[in-house]
Amino acid sequence: MSTTTANSHAAPASEGHGCSANPQWGGRFSEGVDAFVARFTASIDFDQRLYRQDIQGSIAHAQMLHQTGILSDDELTAIVAALDDILQDFEQGRISWSVDLEDIHMNIEAYLTDRIGATGKKLHTGRSRNDQVATDIRLWLRDGIDLILDELHRLQHALVDLAEREAETIMPGFTHLQSAQPVTFGHHLLAWYEMLVRDGERLADCRKRVNVCPLGAAALAGTSYPIDRTYTAALLGFERPARNSLDAVSDRDFAIEFCAASALIMTHLSRMSEELVLWSCAQFDFIALPDRFCTGSSIMPQKKNPDVPELVRGKAGRVNGHLVSLLMLMKSQPLAYNKDNQEDKEPLFDTVDTLVDCLRAFADMVPHIEARRENMLAAARRGFSTATDLADYLVGRGMTFRDAHEVVGKAVAFGLQESRDLSGMTLAELQGFASVVEQDVFDVLTLEGSVRSRNHLGGTAPEQIRQAVANARQALQSL
Ligand code: ARG
Repeated sequence: MSTTTANSHAAPASEGHGCSANPQWGGRFSEGVDAFVARFTASIDFDQRLYRQDIQGSIAHAQMLHQTGILSDDELTAIVAALDDILQDFEQGRISWSVDLEDIHMNIEAYLTDRIGATGKKLHTGRSRNDQVATDIRLWLRDGIDLILDELHRLQHALVDLAEREAETIMPGFTHLQSAQPVTFGHHLLAWYEMLVRDGERLADCRKRVNVCPLGAAALAGTSYPIDRTYTAALLGFERPARNSLDAVSDRDFAIEFCAASALIMTHLSRMSEELVLWSCAQFDFIALPDRFCTGSSIMPQKKNPDVPELVRGKAGRVNGHLVSLLMLMKSQPLAYNKDNQEDKEPLFDTVDTLVDCLRAFADMVPHIEARRENMLAAARRGFSTATDLADYLVGRGMTFRDAHEVVGKAVAFGLQESRDLSGMTLAELQGFASVVEQDVFDVLTLEGSVRSRNHLGGTAPEQIRQAVANARQALQSL
């Protein structure tokens, strides 16, 4: 949708002192606002995104004014019909916004009054732009959270499906990015899934605090009209009206909380991205990403770059930045509404847009990740990842863990010298390090034996992964 005044930085020749006093608040002014100041203070360029919510909120407000006898039947009918028409006109791009009317609220009110005259002017009874904008953002964000949750759940499903497929796949597990102990790939994927479970819970919890209705708080102190705030809140699907009018118009903590939850989601996605990038390089070669999620190089013909995870990793930075922006915006603001709060919208909008896109990209890509199982297995064979299993075996034969640790350390040093893994040593060689070793040691030194033995809740054994997959499916179903 276009604005009637271009948002260019160069002042047009006519700009200077300018316009006549604003029709909606100009009563006490002796001159119109400076043309540059009008552009500088306007928010229509970005808050036009709230047009649906603004109209929805206005219709509910009008219905409440009618319910309480403030508007007549005819007035309500005229207002609702005109607002519906305006909505259609905006949807079809038939009308455009005016920067002179500052923001979405005044633009819509001006259209309304143009269409139905004096009756349109009654809509703002018992209301202020302060409670109006707070309501609009909450309605908008509530939908935004629902969109994000949909994509998040789609990604969770994808991870669970892939985890099931890879329940038996053995890969090296890392600490300090050094081979630590063998794990199953399914286990690793379910670790990602668990991060997202907490992310979903945080968003759902945040949504409860978003879902509170500021309408009726008016400018800051409430209104002397006999309004019914519970009625308006219910019409808009809010849980309840906000309890304190000063708080209702001034705080944006719900938006900050949302950005904090979003920053964590992006942080989690960035960790997944990093692993996908590492695993898909030739040196790891654990996975192949589908071609359609990668790009090539204009100079190096062999390149297949993991652009999608890289970009998601990068976008974590901007979302974390939005969180800090909003925290700084709110810091030290005196009660109640201040114009500072107009700056809440762009970071908030961009956070929702970024989250929806990143989660969507991941949810689309994950089902098509191809595990290079032989490479994962070969990597797990290097790096002595069953050393802890050998130590545990020795403890089972009566050694203390510290002594066992020492003995296995020596065996590893020998293996390094000989370029051989522990499972590649002979029984006699192993007995040279600890005489208690018997033939059954090879059951724990194999990678399969190692992962199979970690068969408890949260462990890496394939049996546990299948159980965890079943539990996750059930949990997703009940969402
Ligand atoms: N455009 C404003 C905002 O986004 C709307 C509220 C303006 N209220 C005021 N008293 N100037 O916050």
